[in-house]
Amino acid sequence: MRVLAIESSCDDTAAAVLNADGVRSSVVASQDLVHGRYGGVVPELASRQHVLAIVPIIERALADAHVTLDDIEGVAATYGPGLVGSLLVGLQAAKGIALARGLPFVGVNHLEGHLLAILLDRPVAFPYLGLLVSGGHTSLYVVDGVGAYRLLGRTRDDAAGEAFDKGAKMLGLGYPGGREIDRLAADGDRRAIRFPRATLKRGAYDLSFSGVKTALRQYLLEERGAPLADVCASFQEAIVDMLAAPTLRAAHDLGLETVVVSGGVSANRRLRARMEEEGARAGLTVLLPRFAYCTDNAAMIGYAGRARLLRGERHPLTLNAAATAPIGLPDTLPHAAEAGHA
Ligand code: KG4
Ligand code: ZN
Repeated sequence: MRVLAIESSCDDTAAAVLNADGVRSSVVASQDLVHGRYGGVVPELASRQHVLAIVPIIERALADAHVTLDDIEGVAATYGPGLVGSLLVGLQAAKGIALARGLPFVGVNHLEGHLLAILLDRPVAFPYLGLLVSGGHTSLYVVDGVGAYRLLGRTRDDAAGEAFDKGAKMLGLGYPGGREIDRLAADGDRRAIRFPRATLKRGAYDLSFSGVKTALRQYLLEERGAPLADVCASFQEAIVDMLAAPTLRAAHDLGLETVVVSGGVSANRRLRARMEEEGARAGLTVLLPRFAYCTDNAAMIGYAGRARLLRGERHPLTLNAAATAPIGLPDTLPHAAEAGHA
């Protein structure tokens, strides 16, 4: 089945074409230049950019895959979680194509896309432990299969990417901040400043990143004057510590041998290195998607959507965008068959 997939949940407009051989094309239009000067995504501007980009991006994905809409056999799009104004643009485009062409349509949970992105590059045996670290989410899941996710823990406050972005803003760096901190931290001393690591009493695998953000603000207010690279490296190290420790503990506790790290923050070089080193030491296989599939893209939505379409799952064209749509919580599993729309 040749599937057209669309993703527009935040500030990237993306489309991809997948068939049985894998990804035939994957195109992403970034809005970094639009939001950069605000130090974060401005929802109204994001929606408007999506409106401008969506048709050219779909046309480009089709052209790169050397196909036309006549060759497409199914359509998938992100329905949530995300910014509703952004989600609606990609979702409406997908539903419009499905309606006009009489094609099967399925909505995909953005988090599911991230958790399965690794499967675009290689087969991975289920179950695996999935650490999802993005700008909006930081959660640990057991991935038992496509559509079968168990939430183990999640951040109680900020997502890890949000902590990076807010930290970068305090440091006067560009957006997205995670990438900037990653770049500057490469030449810094990780031990220069000891930022606090949050440990939570309840919720064995829950995480918290608001403390480290406050600690950075406090440090900057007191102007203790370490070089910027050292501040970045120390701040990054605290976040990486708080991600790596519970993940490795969960893998050990649950006897899972494979750990998959996904989402925008999985592009972080220090997190990748630490997870690979410490995972190897613990006898675990740690897998990371290629960079292009770490940050938002439509190929991962296509993977999840195609798998669901092949299983016969369909959503009605009344499917709406959802700002919050946590997978791993039973009442919101986006399983069309269970919901009676099959
Ligand atoms: O998955 P994603 O593209 O969008 C969401 O679903 O949120 O993740 C974006 C997040 C941003 O917070 C960005 O700062 C972070 O991923 N990010 C990074 C790196 N590249 C992107 N964080 C740390 N290091 C990086 N190299
Ligand atoms: Zn994402």
